[in-house]
Amino acid sequence: MHHFHYRASRLYCEDVPLSAIAETVGTPCYVYSKATLSRHYQAFDSAFAGSPHLVCFSAKANTSKAILNLLGSLGSGLDIVSGGELHRGLSAGIPASRIVYSGVGKTASEMDMALSAGILMFNVESFEELHLLNERALRLGKRAPVSLRVNPDVDPLTHPYISTGLKKNKFGVDKERALAAYLAALELPGIEIRGIDFHIGSQITNLSPFVDAVDAVTALLRDLKRHGIEVRFLDVGGGLGITYGDETPPLPADYVEAVKNALANLPVTLIVEPGRAIVGNAGILLTRVLYRKEGSSKEFVIVDSGMNDLLRPSIYGAFHAIWPVSAREGAPFTADVVGPICESGDFLAKDRQMQPVAPGDLLAVMSAGAYGFSMSSNYNSRPRAAEVMVSGDRFVIVRERESYEDLTRGETVFPG
Ligand code: LLP
Repeated sequence: MHHFHYRASRLYCEDVPLSAIAETVGTPCYVYSKATLSRHYQAFDSAFAGSPHLVCFSAKANTSKAILNLLGSLGSGLDIVSGGELHRGLSAGIPASRIVYSGVGKTASEMDMALSAGILMFNVESFEELHLLNERALRLGKRAPVSLRVNPDVDPLTHPYISTGLKKNKFGVDKERALAAYLAALELPGIEIRGIDFHIGSQITNLSPFVDAVDAVTALLRDLKRHGIEVRFLDVGGGLGITYGDETPPLPADYVEAVKNALANLPVTLIVEPGRAIVGNAGILLTRVLYRKEGSSKEFVIVDSGMNDLLRPSIYGAFHAIWPVSAREGAPFTADVVGPICESGDFLAKDRQMQPVAPGDLLAVMSAGAYGFSMSSNYNSRPRAAEVMVSGDRFVIVRERESYEDLTRGETVFPG
């Protein structure tokens, strides 16, 4: 469910025609619907219906300060994977006490930063990390609050690049070694055990992998109890899929219900880390058609956004629907929608059935709110796109388009 819809053949975000945004801000431009973001956050939050929980939005999906600030004001915490995401979260007003920190490669200085800020939990991914964290905490005269990221060896049935909970993946500690890691943590004076954590993958469209993963960690929870180790938090990660095309993912309420049922009343505070399910369908990439080019074997629609703006189609073969901003009369046609980048892998859609378009027309690349701007780059020295947030009939530029000066900021030539 989102707030991008047609009125009299013109595409709107809430009550703002997308053409008005393109006129003022230019293209390419990411547009986010505030009502959709709030609604998606609330779908998770209200699904818990009074049971102890924390929704930690996964920053990597979209680190826009305006989005983090909005979600924080609704009560959201944050799932981070770097010092940079910690900085963004804190500067957007999210309290450290609602921040959990995952990631296999935390550095000593990132640990120090998070320890000083007083985050809720480090989701520790290895014995080696546990020992370094202990050392850093003692150095700062603190105890590091920890949950262990367990790798439950569950197949999330998703794209291999975004599957994380299998033994062969680099993430977490194998479930067979998890008890040993907790027992080791117990001996470390700089470590305070708070929880258990897993994250099995992303764009998961059925519930059984989540339930299997909860089953694996509840067995561990019971083992821990037998060893006198009580954990207060169970962090089940993110990963709930969204509709890009014809997927029919479970609703947040069904997902939360399934997790709660699998937990069978174990007395823990549940943490969820949704990213895509909150922002994915709350954002679009607005782009303009530059040319229609007739190749000898196929037709190309060349637009002013490329793989530097939206990488997902190029690296995952991901499908994003493409809608005209103003519908035209005429026959549909089939084309590749491509960008200006000098790579054949630079496409937004392949062999796509398109509504009629002409040079100068605006297109909306749908479901681009998650892993869109956050994975964008300056490849081919293209300034990164502007970002706009819409609420009702108002819109605000929440990130200026980068300038050419931004591209060379901080650079220098070798002297002499
Ligand atoms: N928690 C952890 C520890 C994660 O690694 C991730 C995503 C999430 C939460 C949020 O997952 P979500 O709810 O968004 O599925 N760039 C890829 C997705 C990579 C996901 C990485 N981890 C894409 O564009 O599909």
